[in-house]
Amino acid sequence: MVVGGLVPAAVLLLDAQTGALGANPVQRAILQTGLLALALLILSLACTPLRMLTGWTWPARIRKALGLLAFFYGVLHFLLYLLDHGFTPAVVLEDVLERPFVTVGFAALVLMLPLALTSGRGAVRRLGFQNWQRLHQLAYVAVGLGVLHFWWGVKKDHTPPLIAALVVAVLFAVRLIRSRRTRARS
Ligand code: HEM
Repeated sequence: MVVGGLVPAAVLLLDAQTGALGANPVQRAILQTGLLALALLILSLACTPLRMLTGWTWPARIRKALGLLAFFYGVLHFLLYLLDHGFTPAVVLEDVLERPFVTVGFAALVLMLPLALTSGRGAVRRLGFQNWQRLHQLAYVAVGLGVLHFWWGVKKDHTPPLIAALVVAVLFAVRLIRSRRTRARS
């Protein structure tokens, strides 16, 4: 699963070497890795609602890999952004502090870090299931910031970020309705 998820990174590397990324390869790679990070984060959040609705168990088994891949592409996206800005801390800091579009992207990545670090079973044991679950609700904040970042980042057509926002809203609603029903029954 994780190996399969690294295929887009390999394709990106190959495209960069063969010149298939066009006149501004770093910019193109930033856009592609950003999209991959957001799509994988949304897919990881779709696993639980899908299991709730269908009773299938396989979504729960791939959730962690999808989340870790989302973080991997988020980090790659950030590294490419740093490359684009000459790895100059002062310029990057100014950008993060002064451009809301960059601030929310940065915040989304920062929120994804504790989730990636506590994605293993050992972390569930150490934190206790309820604390772990509460911590991982941050994924919804991270995806919300990711969608906002996407919305602010696109220049013309806002349809793709709007679709992303609607998908996230539906996933969140399914979770909320299901957990309210479970609580009402108990
Ligand atoms: C350190 C954090 C981040 C920085 C500095 C950053 C920066 C950027 C930049 C400079 C762009 C290109 C904008 C443009 O030229 O049109 C971009 C686009 C994008 N980023 Fe980020 N980003 C960060 C984190 C994230 C994260 C965590 C996600 C996903 C969860 C994400 C998702 C996206 C998406 C979806 C796009 C738009 C792609 C497109 O228009 O096709 N970014 N980001």
